[in-house]
Amino acid sequence: MTDGALLVRAGRVEWVGADRDLPAGLGDVDELDAAGAAVLPGWVDCHTHAVWAGARREELVARVAGKPYAAGGINATVAATRAASDEALLALASERMRVMRHNGTTTVEVKSGYGLTPADECRLLDVARDAAALQGLRVTTTYLGAHVVPDSRHRDDYVREVIASLPAARHHGAEWCDVFCDEGAFTVDEARRVLVAAAAAGLGLRIHAEQIARTGAALLAAELGCASADHLDHVTDEDARALAVGGVVAVVVPVVSLYSRSQTWSHAQRLADAGCTLAIATDCNPGSAWCESMPYAVQLACLAMGLPVDVALRAATLGGAAALRRDDVGHLGVGARGDLIVLAADHEADLVAHLGADAVIRTVVHGCPIG
Ligand code: NIG
Ligand code: FE
Repeated sequence: MTDGALLVRAGRVEWVGADRDLPAGLGDVDELDAAGAAVLPGWVDCHTHAVWAGARREELVARVAGKPYAAGGINATVAATRAASDEALLALASERMRVMRHNGTTTVEVKSGYGLTPADECRLLDVARDAAALQGLRVTTTYLGAHVVPDSRHRDDYVREVIASLPAARHHGAEWCDVFCDEGAFTVDEARRVLVAAAAAGLGLRIHAEQIARTGAALLAAELGCASADHLDHVTDEDARALAVGGVVAVVVPVVSLYSRSQTWSHAQRLADAGCTLAIATDCNPGSAWCESMPYAVQLACLAMGLPVDVALRAATLGGAAALRRDDVGHLGVGARGDLIVLAADHEADLVAHLGADAVIRTVVHGCPIG
């Protein structure tokens, strides 16, 4: 729609239509004039690991020199994260969320996964919620105790510990449970044990699937009715069909394909062709995607994965909402949250056409411009 207008009251969209049809007699309203710029729903970044301390720059430098990405690097971040104070972790996570918001993210999913003891994992869940509150972002948190087996732990004991700590994670606000089911992380059988227990504990299910190798994790997602299966670089046609039939949202994370130098791009189209609901996320994390920017993820989804611009924009908004099983964000219909962004352009395709510049000039959450 061109020359559109939108009325937000008490944080919800109350009216949307052509500017000339705006109802009269609205009384005292604050007006935000987009001055002809394109307006979109705020991004729904449905997959991040935004709470960590430390850096993995040596790993990145080695990868540029040809060393492949491996799950083992996660343990370096675990050590640095455990050693960080609550205040330091909160400051780091809050600054990342400020950058997310600056780039137009209004709803964010944050996983634990760099604590890997029950207490450290619960601390990360608390920090995620507190950091999002500081930045005015909507947040949902995910327990990822099953990220990797921590150094010096026996794997079966650790899987049992993860299962035993599901109620504590819930108590600390987690709505979801995720498992990194891949080469170097957890097997399909271990993932099944954790996720079945998580469902029984009242958590929704998500899974890191087919990132490094094809293990059968996507089929497990379909079997268990996960809300999303994420990464999917090595997904097969059969896997993609199972996800589509099972209503599992396929979350692609193109920054990881670039940053881990896997250069796998064709899976997004394979998933779309199979009829999957697609979402795009940043996967913001220190090892495979140090990136807070949804515009950058959308640019790669179009220019590297070949998704049409309208498909990518839908995946970064409505698709993310579907992955989080929310119908109140990711769109601007009547009743939706008043979460929107004003682009630095008068056409949404310029978000992909113009690289390396700030794509978003204003982020509005709950009807309030912030930042
Ligand atoms: O989504 N794949 C598992 N977890 C993260 C990476 C974690 C890390 O390397 O620190 C991801 O890519
Ligand atoms: Fe991830």
